[in-house]
Amino acid sequence: MQVIIRPNAKAAVELVAQVIAAALRDHPRLVLGLATGATMEAVYARLSALHRKEGLDFSACHTFNLDEYVGLPAEHPNSYRHYMNRHLFSRVNLDLRNTHLPDGTAADLAAECQKYEALIGQAGGIDLQLLGIGRSGHIGFNEPLSAINSRTRVVWLASATLAQNVRHFKNPTQMPRQAITMGVATIMECRRCLLLATGPDKAEVLARAIEGPLAAMVPASALQIHSDCIVVADASAASRLQGKQDYERAFQNDPKWQRFLQPAPAIAADKR
Ligand code: F6R
Repeated sequence: MQVIIRPNAKAAVELVAQVIAAALRDHPRLVLGLATGATMEAVYARLSALHRKEGLDFSACHTFNLDEYVGLPAEHPNSYRHYMNRHLFSRVNLDLRNTHLPDGTAADLAAECQKYEALIGQAGGIDLQLLGIGRSGHIGFNEPLSAINSRTRVVWLASATLAQNVRHFKNPTQMPRQAITMGVATIMECRRCLLLATGPDKAEVLARAIEGPLAAMVPASALQIHSDCIVVADASAASRLQGKQDYERAFQNDPKWQRFLQPAPAIAADKR
C-alpha cells in the first residue's frame, strides 16, 4: 500500500483524477471500477472537465460500480445508477451499454449477484478500482464483519452507514436498509485499487484501516494486503496517521509521481 497525503481535498481529488486519466490514456479499453458518495462527486466533476477540455476519451472504457441499493429502480433519484448518470455517464463519452451496476430491483437478487460477478469476469476483471471509505470502515458496502473472501452479495447496511447516507434521502423512511455490493474478495481481485478519503470525518476510520490490524471489523483494512493499492488522503483525513511523515517522504522522493504533480497545461481559450 502507498499512502499519499495532499494538502487539501482539491489537490487529493486532482491526483486521483489524474491517475484515472493516465490509466485511461495508457489503456483506452480500461475496465474501471467506480464508487459513489459525496467524496467522488468532485472526482467525476474533474474527469468530466478533462473530457470536455482535453478530450479524455471514455469511448472504449467499461465500468463496474461497487454497489447499488436494494429496491431502488434506476430512475429513483437516490439510486446509484441515477447518481452515476448525473455525475459522470451523461457528461463523458462512455457508451451506456458498457456501464454496469448491480440491479437492486432484480426478482432474484442472489442470481443478480452471481450474474454481476460473471460479467466482471467476462470483461477480463477490473483494472483499476476507485474506492471511498465509509465511517463504518466499509469499502463498497462491505460492512463490519464482512469476510475477506466475501463476493458480490446482498448485505444489511450498518447503523453508521444509515446515519452517513440518510441525509441524501428527501424522505428518510425511504432509505433502503439493504444493498448489493461487490465483496471484499471481488475488490481484492481488482488489479489496482485507488482509495480516496477527504475531510476530518474520515480521519479516525482511515487510521484504523491503514495502520490498525487487518480485521473484519474494518473491511477497508483488507487493502493492506492488496499488492497494488494507493490511498490518497487530504491533510484532514490523514491527520490521525502515525506514519504520515514517512508516507510523505516516500511520495515526494518517488519519481513516478512527479508527472502527476506538474501544473496542468494551459487550456486554449476556446476550450475553457
Ligand atoms: C459507495 C461506496 C461507499 C462510499 C463511502 C464513502 O459506492 O463505495 O463505500 O465510498 O460510503 O461515502 P462518502 O464519500 O459519501 O463519505
